[in-house]
Amino acid sequence: MTTPTTSREIRLVSRPRGLPNAAHFTTTDVELPPLQDGEVLVRNLFMSVDPYMRGRMNEGPSYVTPFALNAVLEGGAIGEVVASRVSAFKAGNIVTSNFGWREAFIARPQDLHSVDPGIAPLSVYLGALGMTGMTAWAGLELGEVKAGDVVYISGAAGAVGNVAGQLAKLRGCRVIGSAGSTEKVLFLRDECGFDAAFDYHVGPVAEQLKVEAPDGIDVYFDNVGGSTLEAALGALRIHGRIIACGGISGYNDEKPQPGPSNYFNVITKRLTIKGLIVRDWMDRQDEFEKEVGGLFRAGQLKNKETVVAGLDQAVGAFLGLFSGKNLGKMVVKLA
Ligand SMILES: NC(=O)c1ccc[n+]([C@@H]2O[C@H](COP(=O)([O-])OP(=O)(O)OC[C@H]3O[C@@H](n4cnc5c(N)ncnc54)[C@H](OP(=O)(O)O)[C@@H]3O)[C@@H](O)[C@H]2O)c1
Repeated sequence: MTTPTTSREIRLVSRPRGLPNAAHFTTTDVELPPLQDGEVLVRNLFMSVDPYMRGRMNEGPSYVTPFALNAVLEGGAIGEVVASRVSAFKAGNIVTSNFGWREAFIARPQDLHSVDPGIAPLSVYLGALGMTGMTAWAGLELGEVKAGDVVYISGAAGAVGNVAGQLAKLRGCRVIGSAGSTEKVLFLRDECGFDAAFDYHVGPVAEQLKVEAPDGIDVYFDNVGGSTLEAALGALRIHGRIIACGGISGYNDEKPQPGPSNYFNVITKRLTIKGLIVRDWMDRQDEFEKEVGGLFRAGQLKNKETVVAGLDQAVGAFLGLFSGKNLGKMVVKLA
């Protein structure tokens, strides 16, 4: 394999208001300096695009620092070591990193995480065995999801949602999912083993949920927020739990959405709402990799992904998350 001396990378050039578009980004060629002692050169094979990146495009404090303007974006990636001046890594090793949105990069060993190169496809480390799979697993842990629970998952055919549903089924739950198309509904029922699934465009979520869970739900795994959260608040039983994972329906809103009109259900039903940030769970990464990696290797957990090819398609892939272009994890193949 030739050693890259340049890399193309994607930068944010202005902060979007509302839905971003291609004009907010630019692609730039950069020189890679000669490798120094203590450094590793990696060529990316796949990079991840994720909804949380939209929040990092805004200015102002959040749980994660905003992206800098006119600097390369960051995000999950998996790549192959091309050259190394560190004993812990050698050419051919497969590593994950947060150096996405670029074709190649130089890093310190502490910023790289070695993975088993024998697993196929390697992009699974950005999906079911990566950050989104870990979010699904951590969410079920946080919500103390157990056999017999009736669990409703929104954004169910996406990266987090489909894994959360599969894992909840393995825990012995009755699982209901909502997603944005007939194809996604069939995927949830036929491939992921959900007990029921519906398209949220077809009718009000509250009504469709009433059909699938006439006696209510115990757990709501929220990826969407907004009116879907409102419907779930209405469907939750006494002592129900909400795993607050995401609120993609509002990520491009210029003004924050008003709170749910039926918030009072939290009180009358004695509900528990727990906020989830997957980074808080990094000290349990080994446990996640052992448990969920074991299920994947045993063929008990599917990794579904939508793959687009080439760095030039990365911005389009990212924007596609907000119109449901992905089934499973959206990844960009780079090499
Ligand atoms: N808390 C954490 O640590 C953490 C970590 C990772 C992800 N998350 C959150 O988890 C959620 C899912 O993330 P993901 O990576 O798995 O993304 P994803 O579900 O793979 O992709 C986003 C999906 O959201 C759906 N969507 C877009 N706009 C929507 C709307 N207005 N209403 C309903 N659905 C909409 C689309 O599917 P449809 O076709 O079904 O509309 C789209 O495919 C996001 O909110 C994300 O921010 C949180």
